[in-house]
Amino acid sequence: MTDQIWDSNLPAKYKSISTYQWTPVQVIEFTWQYLQTQSVSSILDLGSGVGKFCLYLAKLANGNFPIYGIEDRLDLYKVSESLKTKLKLEGVVFNHEDFLVNFPFGHSHYYLFNPLYETMKGNYSIDFEKEKSANLFLKNLQILKSNLLKCKTGTKVITYHGFGGSILPGFRILMKKELELGEWMVWERD
Ligand SMILES: C[S@@+](CC[C@H](N)C(=O)[O-])C[C@H]1O[C@@H](n2cnc3c(N)ncnc32)[C@H](O)[C@@H]1O
Repeated sequence: MTDQIWDSNLPAKYKSISTYQWTPVQVIEFTWQYLQTQSVSSILDLGSGVGKFCLYLAKLANGNFPIYGIEDRLDLYKVSESLKTKLKLEGVVFNHEDFLVNFPFGHSHYYLFNPLYETMKGNYSIDFEKEKSANLFLKNLQILKSNLLKCKTGTKVITYHGFGGSILPGFRILMKKELELGEWMVWERD
């Protein structure tokens, strides 16, 4: 699989921002290698976008564990649902929700590709529907951290390009890898 092949499934406006917004194939394959060393009850992508991480992982994992994605942009959620049907993938469930409002507790593993970063001013935004504000970013980061702190001991959080901060209270860093395309880390709830 290559990003070019996978992204060819996407509507043009989402294909053009793939490098900046959707996890590269190589990073998903690296994450799958790691997950094979783990006892995974389920994994959830916080901010699943067009579903690239969840759908390609579902193909690789082939039913080994359930995969979930949460996305608050309706259009992206709809793209992920239609790709799931088109690619005939099972074992993956998408929900249209805001994880800052309704945090999905109970998974052994979480994945984040810096979903809060979009609140900061920058290039390659998905759209301009959401407010851009440093204060809002800090407020949302606090909500995310406090919810992750409520996860049970042993919960793992995998980040690609971080979660938005440098310290995750209640977690220790288990792994840190400088991949060609960005920093990949695993955090464990103490
Ligand atoms: C950088 S993209 C990563 C997408 C996907 N995880 C992937 O790797 O392919 C971050 C996603 O998080 C979503 N997002 C940001 N804040 C969210 C929130 N509070 N609730 C649900 N989704 C959110 C954005 O809409 C965007 O699709």
